[in-house]
Amino acid sequence: MKILVINGPNLNMLGIREKNIYGVETYEDLKVLVEKTFAEQGIEGEIYQSNHEGALVDRIQQAYFDGTDAIVINPAAYTHTSIAILDALKAVSLPAVEVHISDVKEREDFRQISYAGKACEKTIMGKGFAGYVEAIEYLVEKYKR
Ligand code: DQA
Repeated sequence: MKILVINGPNLNMLGIREKNIYGVETYEDLKVLVEKTFAEQGIEGEIYQSNHEGALVDRIQQAYFDGTDAIVINPAAYTHTSIAILDALKAVSLPAVEVHISDVKEREDFRQISYAGKACEKTIMGKGFAGYVEAIEYLVEKYKR
């Protein structure tokens, strides 16, 4: 089984950006955690990050052709704006779980809509980096053959 973990804009700034919201751990720490989870689950995986909407769309499309079985996605700010990312997730039609580090539902009104979430079977928010682990475990449990 192969899982692709996709992260959107400014998540490369984890550990630097708004530490009161996102914590002090860095993107490098997140990579280590995600890769450790792949190893523990005995699956293949990749963690990808871009600040560019089109690059995120390209990477989702590529997942259709590269043998990816499921996607974990934190589209970051594009969550609340990007119909292109929603359409890409629908186009590839792979099982997907949406993750947010912070508890988005307790935040500003403009964060209350998730377009990408409409193509995801589950949303995990407000659990910090542990949300990524939960998402991977959920997908492995449900889809590993
Ligand atoms: C985020 C929440 C988004 O609203 C925000 O734009 C982010 C990160 C989260 O992980 O909590 O950049 O997706």
